[in-house]
Amino acid sequence: MKTRWLRLAIALLLGLPAAAFAVDAPHDASYTSGSCLECHKLHNATGGALTNRPTMAALCQSCHSQTGRPPRVNWSDTDQAAPGVHGTQHNWSASTTSSVHGALPPLDGNMLSRTTGGVLSCAVCHDVHRANAAYAPSQIGTNVAIGTAQANTGGAGGGQLTLQPLGANPVPRGYQVRVVAGGGFVLSHDFGSAAPTWYIWSGGAWVVGTSAGPGKPFTVGTAVTLDDPAVSVTFSGAPVSGDYWNFYVAYPFLRAANDVGQMCLDCHRDRDQNHAIVEGQLVGYGWGGKPFSHPVGQALNANLANYDRAAPLDADGGTAGAGAYSNPTSTLKTYGGNVECISCHSPHNTDSNALTVDPH
Ligand code: HEC
Ligand code: HEC
Ligand code: HEC
Ligand code: HEC
Ligand code: HEC
Repeated sequence: MKTRWLRLAIALLLGLPAAAFAVDAPHDASYTSGSCLECHKLHNATGGALTNRPTMAALCQSCHSQTGRPPRVNWSDTDQAAPGVHGTQHNWSASTTSSVHGALPPLDGNMLSRTTGGVLSCAVCHDVHRANAAYAPSQIGTNVAIGTAQANTGGAGGGQLTLQPLGANPVPRGYQVRVVAGGGFVLSHDFGSAAPTWYIWSGGAWVVGTSAGPGKPFTVGTAVTLDDPAVSVTFSGAPVSGDYWNFYVAYPFLRAANDVGQMCLDCHRDRDQNHAIVEGQLVGYGWGGKPFSHPVGQALNANLANYDRAAPLDADGGTAGAGAYSNPTSTLKTYGGNVECISCHSPHNTDSNALTVDPH
């Protein structure tokens, strides 16, 4: 424990922003100043881990509960769920030792060490320093809709930029894409800092230069890759020198793997039940004792009773993604063919109403 805080103090003392302990986008110098002091305070810190707010939720909400932020990443205390009553977000302040819904302290050591005082917090599920792709490979976060033309963030021209479908494993990064004189574009990943680094196009490669360019040439209407081959954009309209667009590509900063809902099953392991348990076939798993919960970790028709469909239908009774309301945020999914907690639940932005499209 002691060495953790020592490491933090040394990292903070050595330099801000500390290159040795990089933070991933968008928590880096793309969408914040890039200083560790956005969240930490070395002396008289009011929060644990030398953080600058008295509670974890207050720290996150100092940025994630502000007017002007996109609804997908923005919520207030009243959004915490109380089942059957209100709320659109997973609880972030309840006890993990006396949960009314049977939740237990996590077994994962990294998660457990963040349940300070036996209480849930944003940091139990999230590590805000690392947008670790391996923990949520298919849950790439961006602040622009992929495939939709975006007006420029700044500049005088009427050009637009469209982020193209991403390739495999994009690196978490913030981008400022800026058109330069001569028609090409340059890039910066730390445009939130006082002195951003610029990448220019020279000899067929990206090298460090100035915002004047030369830029990578592009043709309006044709996709062009950025410095990550998995990320490409298309310019449209009439972009002019000085026009720029800001966006990021990241992952949800998870503390542990959750690609098939493993984090859910860690704390809610009382609900890790297969069809045999739910059908009362497991000897010793008595009626009237432990509550029964919908089977997970199993394919449809696992009990060979032939009453399951081959694939889940939408809430409107039609094929997923089609029908009366083809709502992408209420489509029930299987994971590797299995029903999991996250087939029916999502930790954030769910109003339990299939008629509305949730921020996603
Ligand atoms: C967006 C907010 C945020 C930023 C920016 C941030 N931190 Fe943190 N940091 C936290 C929170 C929250 C915790 C406590 C939870 C945890 O351990 O992750 C923490 C904990 C730590 C720890 C102790 C936990 C461990 O993993 O051992 C270290 C070390 C640390 N931060 C270093 C840094 C450094 C150095 C920077 C700047 C390069 C930085 N942090 C920037 C929010 C932040
Ligand atoms: C200094 C400001 C700041 C603080 C403090 C902060 N964030 Fe963020 N965070 C951002 C910004 C900016 C974004 C990008 C989205 C946006 O435009 O608001 C973001 C995005 C995220 C994302 C989404 C990445 C994606 O998939 O799109 C997660 C998850 C996240 N933050 C978690 C947290 C948690 C948990 C905390 C508290 C421990 C926290 N943040 C504290 C600024 C902050
Ligand atoms: C019980 C675990 C858990 C808690 C507690 C939690 N999150 Fe999350 N969060 C997740 C998971 C898992 C994701 C990945 C996206 C998904 O699965 O929908 C996520 C995604 C996000 C995102 C990206 C938005 C999205 O819908 O993808 C933001 C921003 C975020 N969390 C911030 C927070 C903040 C701020 C708090 C505390 C106020 C918090 N989270 C508490 C598990 C949690
Ligand atoms: C770190 C432990 C932890 C993790 C991880 C976790 N939960 Fe929870 N969950 C809890 C606790 C504690 C409560 C609050 C229970 C209570 O009210 O006492 C809760 C409550 C809930 C509720 C009831 C609504 C609410 O927010 O009170 C649902 C639904 C739920 N969790 C689903 C999930 C799903 C789905 C996941 C995976 C994305 C997940 N949980 C991950 C601990 C956890
Ligand atoms: C087939 C869909 C489905 C699956 C799979 C599922 N749930 Fe639920 N869950 C629901 C519905 C619907 C409700 C609301 C039930 C109600 O209001 O009575 C709910 C309610 C809950 C609640 C609130 C308390 C309660 O029991 O009413 C928690 C906590 C919860 N689920 C956790 C989980 C966890 C953890 C998993 C994975 C082990 C899971 N659920 C799997 C559909 C599902």
